[in-house]
Amino acid sequence: MSQDYEAVAETLRKFIATKRPEWDDGSIGPVLVRLAWHASGTYDKHSRTGGSNGATMRFKPEATDPANAGLEHARAFLESVKEQFPWISTADLWTLAGVTAIEVMGGPKIPWKPGRLDKNERSVTKTEIPPNGRLPDASQGSQHIRDVFNRMGFNDQEIVALSGAHALGRCHTDRSGYKGPWTFNPTRFSNQYFVLLKNVKWTKKQWDGPEQYQDPHDELMMLPTDMALLWDPEFKKYVELYAQDKEAFFRDFSAAFARLLELGVNRAPPPRL
Ligand code: HEM
Repeated sequence: MSQDYEAVAETLRKFIATKRPEWDDGSIGPVLVRLAWHASGTYDKHSRTGGSNGATMRFKPEATDPANAGLEHARAFLESVKEQFPWISTADLWTLAGVTAIEVMGGPKIPWKPGRLDKNERSVTKTEIPPNGRLPDASQGSQHIRDVFNRMGFNDQEIVALSGAHALGRCHTDRSGYKGPWTFNPTRFSNQYFVLLKNVKWTKKQWDGPEQYQDPHDELMMLPTDMALLWDPEFKKYVELYAQDKEAFFRDFSAAFARLLELGVNRAPPPRL
């Protein structure tokens, strides 16, 4: 069986590039990026557990982690792609789909390497599946953000760069409880998240849902963790940098996302920022 990763990427590219009304804003792209991130962001550098290797989100309790609500749609779609390319590991497919989606939506090309292996459902042990609670909680502030991302091995600048992915997609009340998109073009990768975060007059949304922030016309939203990037001076300097320098954001996002997808893969990681 030939291992033609470019053929898989091409199939993904075609699917992502075609407008599909059944997906939000007509694109599966944003939820594929979120799947790649959540599959990888469980990594704990101290115990060296979690991360993208193993594709353990196929199993409980990771599959049913409330933080992963909605990702079953992305996983089901990629299972159908795997039927066409049964030789690719699910862990490679999830991460390849993330980098391909970013590229198709106008973002930077992200270095990606295959080689992840899937854990086997019958032999996987409890400690090999990351527990719930490792992914960030959107209701928290900068201390929590640092705790979670430092545990993965990321510094302040990388945290802010990665957060720029919220240019894409939206929040769903039936998944996270939050509501709405961050930008006016949620299927286009851009530095708009930073431009808007910095320039809009954000106020607390008055509603029955969880605390979130809105623009004056209530069209866009920010999570408490997004606002924390503005309120924390160490984070804020990178928000300002990326708001005015799109090239710097694309370069730094590409490097940080490449590192994120390597977490838990047992080989030398790509260089850090
Ligand atoms: C403090 C860190 C973060 C928090 C608390 C957070 C939280 C959230 C929440 C609550 C949602 C809405 C889910 C839903 O209701 O469907 C979301 C969506 C999303 N997140 Fe994050 N996120 C964080 C960082 C990141 C990072 C690092 C990336 C990627 C590099 C990312 C990519 C996305 C994308 C693309 C979506 C949209 C998904 C869709 O449209 O279905 N997020 N995030």
